[in-house]
Amino acid sequence: MSEALKGKRVLVTGAAQGMGRAIAIACAVQGAEALTIVDIQDDLAQETAELVRNAGATALVITADLTQPDQIHEMIETSASFAGGLDTLINNAGVIDTAFLHPAGFDTLDETTWDTVMAVNLKAVWLATKAAAPHLRVSGRGPSIVNSASVAGVHGTTSAIAYGASKAGVIQLTKSCAVALGPNIRVNAFLPGTIDTPMAQSHLVSGVDPAQTELRMTGTQVIPRFGAADEVAQVACFLASDAASFVTGGIYPVDGGTLAWRGIRT
Ligand SMILES: NC(=O)c1ccc[n+]([C@@H]2O[C@H](COP(=O)([O-])OP(=O)(O)OC[C@H]3O[C@@H](n4cnc5c(N)ncnc54)[C@H](O)[C@@H]3O)[C@@H](O)[C@H]2O)c1
Repeated sequence: MSEALKGKRVLVTGAAQGMGRAIAIACAVQGAEALTIVDIQDDLAQETAELVRNAGATALVITADLTQPDQIHEMIETSASFAGGLDTLINNAGVIDTAFLHPAGFDTLDETTWDTVMAVNLKAVWLATKAAAPHLRVSGRGPSIVNSASVAGVHGTTSAIAYGASKAGVIQLTKSCAVALGPNIRVNAFLPGTIDTPMAQSHLVSGVDPAQTELRMTGTQVIPRFGAADEVAQVACFLASDAASFVTGGIYPVDGGTLAWRGIRT
């Protein structure tokens, strides 16, 4: 068992499944003291909490809807009370246009979907950062924030226009928050490519031709497969750890090389 996150009190949003669950478990395995599991799905969040406890950390589930500013503020305060402070905020929760629209695209994108995607993916990251800042400023245990952006925040997409714009916003917000909260609080983001989670699977089957969608999702990668949630969790944990003490304002692709390559595998 690694001790890279020894003693840290960590809050992970969107931790009921997918990458958020993998990150919460990896934090516990790497020695985090306390994990706050935030999600809108209570049953699955409770499962994550049990897995976290089995890995050696204490765990609290907070059921919250990140489209609601008052619930974001409350989740930070409840988490800090539970753990006796907050050292690491991991803004991982996200939603994508294709979860709401069929088909999703430029002509079908409506204001409700745009607003929901922006609220969860971008506004909640800002509000959680703002609410967490007073706690992080007094942490004394290597405070940092790790945000989940996406390669879709760098390149254009056909079926996730609001999503891509929100993730581009997360990249920019990460840099501005690193400047605003530095030097003591580090702020970084990871950019997943195609990762095998419930979100990626539902996006895959939302297309007219799932085989074509899969080729589009993985065919532009140097490593031609879906990534595993834990492969992203390892990078998130590194960014949260004191081993990354000189790393802030950084944007880290975990994408099988898709942003490095302009080609497509056929
Ligand atoms: N899977 C991928 O290929 C991929 C690629 C790039 C970026 N990402 C990003 O990585 C992060 C994790 O993605 P994932 O694939 O694990 O997704 P996922 O859909 O499997 O998990 C996202 C979690 O966020 C929670 N959530 C959604 N809306 C919420 C709300 N309003 N309030 C509270 N919780 C809410 C969901 O309940 C879910 O547990 C997201 O930010 C996503 O945009 C994913």
